[in-house]
Amino acid sequence: MLAGGMERTFAMIKPDGVRRGLTPEILARIQKKGYRVVGLKQMLIPREVAENHYGEHRERPFFGELVDFITGGPVVAIALEGENAITGWRAMMGATNPANAAPGTVRADFATTTGENVTHGSDSPESAARELALFFKDGELLA
Ligand code: RTP
Ligand code: MG
Repeated sequence: MLAGGMERTFAMIKPDGVRRGLTPEILARIQKKGYRVVGLKQMLIPREVAENHYGEHRERPFFGELVDFITGGPVVAIALEGENAITGWRAMMGATNPANAAPGTVRADFATTTGENVTHGSDSPESAARELALFFKDGELLA
């Protein structure tokens, strides 16, 4: 991890967000906050990558639906850098269930259902490192 509280995290605009044209709005929020975008690409997620990404949920009843959803259309994969970026981006996204998300968060402002909640963010330094490596090859991120 970088010194002085600087962190990198993995953020994603999920297929519902891309389909609904929310990419510019969400990127604007990230940049206005002051995070540095060190990686950015629109892509389709291969099924094996999605199953690996959400591996912690493999035994949950919603796993199949979750993988179908996240592979069902293009996403925007984003690598962010900033002071406390991991918890900071999670705070900007709001609670998993948009009904519980605080006003002003992405999920409160743009989503109504848990299944289609517009964005993803790594939940710990370990997840951030794992997910960044899963979505971005060596050399694909800015130094
Ligand atoms: P994410 O990983 O996508 O950033 O979301 P999260 O940390 O806020 O939530 P997590 O517990 O990791 O769940 C991953 C995604 O699975 C769907 N989910 N459905 N039906 C359910 O009870 C349920 N619980 C979670 C959500 O789409 C959630 O974002
Ligand atoms: Mg999660």
